[in-house]
Amino acid sequence: MLLLGIETSCDDTATAVVRDGASVLSNVSTNQDAFHEKYGGIVPEIASRQHVALLTAAVEDAADRARVSLDGIDGVAVTRGPGLIGSLVVGVASAKALAFALDKPLYGVNHLHGHIFAAFLDRKELPAYPLLALLVSGGHSQLVEVLDPVKLRVIGRTRDDAAGESYDKTARLLGLGFPGGPALDQMAQSGDADAFNFPRHRAEGDSLDMSFSGIKTAVRYFLESSKSVNVRPEDVAASFQAAIVDVLMARVRKAWDRAEYRTFVLSGGVAANSALQAAIKQWALEQGVAAFVPPAKYCTDNAAMIAAAAFYQADMIRADPLTLSADPNLPFSLA
Ligand code: KG4
Ligand code: ZN
Repeated sequence: MLLLGIETSCDDTATAVVRDGASVLSNVSTNQDAFHEKYGGIVPEIASRQHVALLTAAVEDAADRARVSLDGIDGVAVTRGPGLIGSLVVGVASAKALAFALDKPLYGVNHLHGHIFAAFLDRKELPAYPLLALLVSGGHSQLVEVLDPVKLRVIGRTRDDAAGESYDKTARLLGLGFPGGPALDQMAQSGDADAFNFPRHRAEGDSLDMSFSGIKTAVRYFLESSKSVNVRPEDVAASFQAAIVDVLMARVRKAWDRAEYRTFVLSGGVAANSALQAAIKQWALEQGVAAFVPPAKYCTDNAAMIAAAAFYQADMIRADPLTLSADPNLPFSLA
């Protein structure tokens, strides 16, 4: 089954052609950072207008690179939520028009499920169920239990900022631009992670929830105080990153130890973080865990992951090309 994927939930205009939820024939993504950078964050109105300008060419590009004609695809998969309403509407309207005109099935995908199925792309061996996923992006931080492709449940979540949001806000404090996560990661590599002890959120009882706003606030107060005079920003970045990774790893260990999961998946934009990847790899090695970490191009927002999710969830998420609606608050669980 050859699916065309369309992803426009935030500020990346992304399209892809994927065979059987696994083999990526093309994966096109146009990043809009240049349009949002000067505002220090994503401006929703600009994002949706850019999607309008870019999407038609991006669909043609994905088909050309995959060497298929649009007639040759077996269906259209589109992100219907969660995300920015204006951005989602552009992708959903285009997907509906394409599916209707081509007379092909249409699938409405949950963006967060897409991040999990990113771990199934371009693999010889697939993650086995039940699996535990840590999904960390600019908008979300959650632990997800996946019993099968359509039985997914959030078992832990952030109470405030998403991990990526915390990276981006702290990066801004360090003057690293937007989105600052990758730049902070880079800067931290030449810093001392033990230089400063920023607070780590502890989860009470059997809760798997997490909080990141305290770490970011502690960094801000520290930078504003006299203690930060002559401090190396690299050390602040590394110490901040260590605190974030500690909180995430504590939740992963707690969740893993309390149920019988067969595999572990790390996904979302922050999964590209070098310190988090290193911590996951070390834990997996020590505990004998089969951990799947997608390459960076599938960790950040992309349309191949949307086509993959649609392949595995097809029967549950088939939609009507005349009536499918975007839903910025799409519930996580199916049915
Ligand atoms: O999944 P994604 O592309 O978009 C959302 O759905 O949010 O994630 C983007 C987030 C941004 O906050 C970005 O700063 C963060 O992922 N990010 C990173 C790294 N690469 C991307 N954060 C830390 N280290 C990285 N290497
Ligand atoms: Zn995302």
